[in-house]
Amino acid sequence: MSGLVSVREGITDLLVPEDYSRHGPGTRTGEVFYNRQMEFGRDISVIFGREVFHEGQRILDGLAATGARGLRMANECGVRADFELNDRDLRAAVVMKENAELNSLSHVRIHCRDLRALLAEEHFDYIDIDPFGSPADFIDAAVQSCSNKGIIGFAATDTAPLYGAYPKTSLRRYGALSARSPFGHETGLRILIGFAVREAAKHDRGVEPLLCYHADHYFRCYLRVVNGASRADASLRQLGYSGFDRKSLERTTAEERKKKTDSGPLWLGPLASMDILKRMAATGDLGTAPRCAKIIEAWRDECAMPPLFYAMDELSRRTKLSPPKLTDFIDFLRERGARASRTHFDPKGFKTDLGSKDLMKEYRAYARKRK
Ligand SMILES: C[S@@+](CC[C@H](N)C(=O)[O-])C[C@H]1O[C@@H](n2cnc3c(N)ncnc32)[C@H](O)[C@@H]1O
Repeated sequence: MSGLVSVREGITDLLVPEDYSRHGPGTRTGEVFYNRQMEFGRDISVIFGREVFHEGQRILDGLAATGARGLRMANECGVRADFELNDRDLRAAVVMKENAELNSLSHVRIHCRDLRALLAEEHFDYIDIDPFGSPADFIDAAVQSCSNKGIIGFAATDTAPLYGAYPKTSLRRYGALSARSPFGHETGLRILIGFAVREAAKHDRGVEPLLCYHADHYFRCYLRVVNGASRADASLRQLGYSGFDRKSLERTTAEERKKKTDSGPLWLGPLASMDILKRMAATGDLGTAPRCAKIIEAWRDECAMPPLFYAMDELSRRTKLSPPKLTDFIDFLRERGARASRTHFDPKGFKTDLGSKDLMKEYRAYARKRK
């Protein structure tokens, strides 16, 4: 196909449209989609796949475009599995076939189908869904197609409704109300997981988040799907609501909605599996290895922390005291017996088990100590 240029991600060569998106979320140009900025997310997919894929599994990149993600997983995870790529756009199928051959991955199977039709007919052990905007249309079909203890990985770039900028859109699309708050990135991600939990529960299947995160302009979730009505019930029990009091900065979580402004239903359980995080390694062959290493460290740090992070700016605005260095303040909180960690959601954010009143006291105490 003409109008293509060659780029390299990790150890995989890819032919992509000449005018591909180098920055930002990327747009539909009429060409086969490729966004260089997503290399980081694909590096994470490779690192994650190395830890969870097994020999003989059926692994599907369901919305593959140039095949960048699926081919990289096939080429770089080091697992002898059956990798398959799908896109309903015939031009995409042609490009991914060329890309498969370019990397001597001719055994990779190419489909050119509507993803929902493919998922209705076949079963996979891993299903990747990387849509323009919302994954909501595909989750039900993915849950049904996914094998027991298989994994669905999906992205959402419709972040504004999930952050709370368009609560009605969030309600229509995800059946959950979102509200603006300083920790809106976290509630948005948790609404997305909560949606998948409810979609899975319809089919008597439970969901275990293996890795869920926010980066750049998108959310990404990797969820294990497990058979059983009791597993579904156990997942549903981890859903609830989050509240925020602008005056006191108090964050609350509860089983039931207490105020009209609460966000939810949303997932209140862990966002990742520590067991997998411990094994994930940002190897030097990856183009964004330093960024991967940094975020994996932040995920490990915050993995066991309770939900809803604080932003340092909130505290400095409220107390009119200039913000301390984040790591120093976290160390201070730990010395005082509290639990505290950084968070990947915000470079100036942190998590703690302290309530807002106690946190404000500690913040003032730290400011006095600094003088
Ligand atoms: C954002 S792009 C995927 C990007 C790709 N995963 C990557 O990492 O570069 C979304 C792709 O989904 C395809 N698509 C959208 N709806 C689809 C559907 N219902 N079935 C199959 N493919 C679909 C589009 O043609 C497009 O190529």
